[in-house]
Amino acid sequence: MILKFLDLNKQTKNIKKKIINSIKKNIDSSSFIGGKDLDKFEEEFKIYLKVNFCLGVANGTDALEIAIKALGLKKKSEIIVPSNSWISTAEAVINNNCKLKFVDVDDTHNICINDLKKKISKKTEAIIVVHLYGNPANMKEILKLKKKYNLKIIEDCAQAHGAEINMKKISTFGDIGTFSFFPSKNLGCYGDGGCIVTNNKKYYNLMKKIANHGGLKKNSHLIQGRNSRLDNIQAGILRIKLKELDKWIKYRKYQAQIYYDCLSNIDQISFVKKMKNTESSNHLMVIRTPSRDKLRSYLKRNGIYTGIHYPYALPQAKVFKNKHLSYCKNMNSIKFSKQIISLPIGEHLNISQIKHICYKIKKFFNA
Ligand SMILES: Cc1ncc(COP(=O)(O)O)c(C=O)c1O
Repeated sequence: MILKFLDLNKQTKNIKKKIINSIKKNIDSSSFIGGKDLDKFEEEFKIYLKVNFCLGVANGTDALEIAIKALGLKKKSEIIVPSNSWISTAEAVINNNCKLKFVDVDDTHNICINDLKKKISKKTEAIIVVHLYGNPANMKEILKLKKKYNLKIIEDCAQAHGAEINMKKISTFGDIGTFSFFPSKNLGCYGDGGCIVTNNKKYYNLMKKIANHGGLKKNSHLIQGRNSRLDNIQAGILRIKLKELDKWIKYRKYQAQIYYDCLSNIDQISFVKKMKNTESSNHLMVIRTPSRDKLRSYLKRNGIYTGIHYPYALPQAKVFKNKHLSYCKNMNSIKFSKQIISLPIGEHLNISQIKHICYKIKKFFNA
């Protein structure tokens, strides 16, 4: 039996007809850039999140870059980023000519509030909070720090569509929220896609201009902009998938609970800690174990495919040329990167398959 880490074919099976009809409709009406599906998706995602404004863009990295630009920070302003995330979170800061500062993560694998308190300086202007693996970060404490130091907050929600804190959707706590619709995300399209959400009209209007060559109308280029669009075909696909999202998250939650129930009493395994009063979107099922590499090879030999998110912490990325290592060398994120393994989760796996994975893991640990 081969159990893949990800298999989108199975996710698509029940909605394939609707998706093909939607693509056909947009081809027949030549609605490719802009169009009804884009307008409707932005409206529907706004309603889903309970947020005032939503702007479709080309991908989650653009979403971050445009969001930072809209904050209107001075050149070389310092922006804090958690030391464990996908590269885009840090890349977006340097692509905006801002100064990057890494803060460690704690056992939630999200930004560590204690380290954050130590690292905030007079130069800090903004924090990008990542809700990694779909688990909400500690927004309560982050919002206290925002107020105290007058900081801007961007929420990177690329892995956390539908996640909640106290029944309020993440992306609506800070100044601006960003999403990726990369195909493997809980809400993914069939190519690249992303969006930016905010309750602030000024930011929305500015971001709309930035993403559209600096203006809102054709041949109007009022500010320095770029081209970053969510196309109408992708928006049509996302509209169909958005209707399934809560059901998919519920199923992932069930799968995650089975992993927890079966594996949490194994001494050599640690689970990622979740904050109270939060609902994870369970995008990734990450555990830690000192025997990560051996476990991974054993599972592969048994037809079970896993991932690592991520194999090294961001300060270790070659692009930063060791610039951050002096203050990051003892970080949890570096230790965790050698121990984390992402187990398969998602609609492509039935419950007996999840139990089979647990059985194999237990066997590996003689548990
Ligand atoms: C946390 C995080 N931020 C940003 C991104 C970037 O999204 P995209 O690949 O759509 O540019 C990703 C994508 O994997 C991500 O996981």
